[in-house]
Amino acid sequence: MSKQTLTITDNRTGNTIELPIEHDTIPAIGLRQLKVQADDFGMMAYDPGYTNTASCKSRITYVDGDKGILRYRGYPIEQLAEKSTFLEVAHLLLFGELPTASKLTDWNARIMAHTQIDKDLKGVLKTFRGDAHPMGILISAVAAMSTLYPEAKQVHDSEIRLQQVVRVLGQLPTAVAFAYQNLLGRPHTDPDGALGYSENFLHMMGLTGDGEVDPVLARAMDVLFILHADHEQNCSTSALRNIASSDADPYCALAGAVAALYGPLHGGANEAVLRMLAEIGDTKKIPAFLERVKNREVRLMGFGHRVYKNYDPRAQIVKKIAYEVFDVTGSNPLIDIAVALEQAALEDDYFVSRRLYPNVDFYSGIIYQAMGFPVEIFPVLFALGRAPGWLAQWMELMDDAEQRIARPRQIFLGEAERAYLPIGERG
Ligand SMILES: CC(C)(COP(=O)(O)OP(=O)(O)OC[C@H]1O[C@@H](n2cnc3c(N)ncnc32)[C@H](O)[C@@H]1OP(=O)(O)O)[C@@H](O)C(=O)NCCC(=O)NCCS
Repeated sequence: MSKQTLTITDNRTGNTIELPIEHDTIPAIGLRQLKVQADDFGMMAYDPGYTNTASCKSRITYVDGDKGILRYRGYPIEQLAEKSTFLEVAHLLLFGELPTASKLTDWNARIMAHTQIDKDLKGVLKTFRGDAHPMGILISAVAAMSTLYPEAKQVHDSEIRLQQVVRVLGQLPTAVAFAYQNLLGRPHTDPDGALGYSENFLHMMGLTGDGEVDPVLARAMDVLFILHADHEQNCSTSALRNIASSDADPYCALAGAVAALYGPLHGGANEAVLRMLAEIGDTKKIPAFLERVKNREVRLMGFGHRVYKNYDPRAQIVKKIAYEVFDVTGSNPLIDIAVALEQAALEDDYFVSRRLYPNVDFYSGIIYQAMGFPVEIFPVLFALGRAPGWLAQWMELMDDAEQRIARPRQIFLGEAERAYLPIGERG
């Protein structure tokens, strides 16, 4: 077998170092041996946006962006989306295995027994003004849970950890629905533990058609949650890991993750896609819109991905679900614009040469809108789906003996030391 090392020659000095290769990576700290003077700090790797830096070892989610592959704990996303429920997938992500039938029954019951929210949390949720963005409310709700469950600070106690996981999965949909109904000035609907997870959520949101949640819509919601459930070290998960690396409690870490997700380049993209499609308004206007994208005036939202340089496998599934949902809700006219826009982009050299394909957000918003969700709440739906992934990543981090507090380095390009000037002498 070939030698598993990397030899680097520093051409400034002619010095050579040999670094071990493990899993196709080298330990970045090894670069510190490269010095010109003995008292130099040594070299670092420069990687804004962490495009090529592995920050952890993980066993949860595998993404091959070139081939368009996504697997949770080894299972292809297509099979999970077709055969599993969201809570089953949450179990898989958190504990590493698909549950047996009896374990799944217990797990479902445990989560659904924790869907009531504390009256103090309700109090917090009632304080927001009518035009408050639901993501701001969600960030606050999760942070507020930190104050309600102070024992969550014991992040190295696995039983206490699991208790917070159950609370988050159980309570988040209720908090979201409570806040939503409150914003609309409508009465709050209590959670119903006898319903399925997604069915209960739609029930609390009042998306019940003529009385009962349509099973096709409940299943579509469940599948959309599954598709969002984890995506390895994305922006919000990395934010969560960074925060949790200081042993902050999981609610604080989750509040940070939700905040990171809020941005339009991440979970806010589904909302931005809908606004973009509405602005285009007509398939005839697509060529002019694409010209604006190519002139870098706007981005084609829902397209492109840091990791996928191929069709995002989740986007294929979402596109299929859209038509199943439309059979129940009636079509969303924006789907025709989206399909034509996708086709035009995929035939255009600008997008082809940059390997820009639809991502999960391109079609999801159209479904949410058809189901009756307002646009502002779309990123919140992403967050509800992502919760088990965040929690699984948090549990993995807490058990990882190699992890330390996250603390990147910088290249300092500011002023060298200079003399302090009294205020009267400054120019
Ligand atoms: C997801 C995203 C942030 C990834 O960013 P990234 O990995 O840093 O990719 P870059 O911004 O370096 O893009 C590489 C090239 O493609 C272009 N590009 C990437 N996404 C684009 C988009 N959505 N529309 C137009 N051009 C895009 C960039 O301008 C760049 O072109 P250049 O090399 O000529 O400068 C980016 O693709 C994006 O903004 N997409 C739209 C938002 C979105 O849908 N986000 C949800 C992700 S799930």
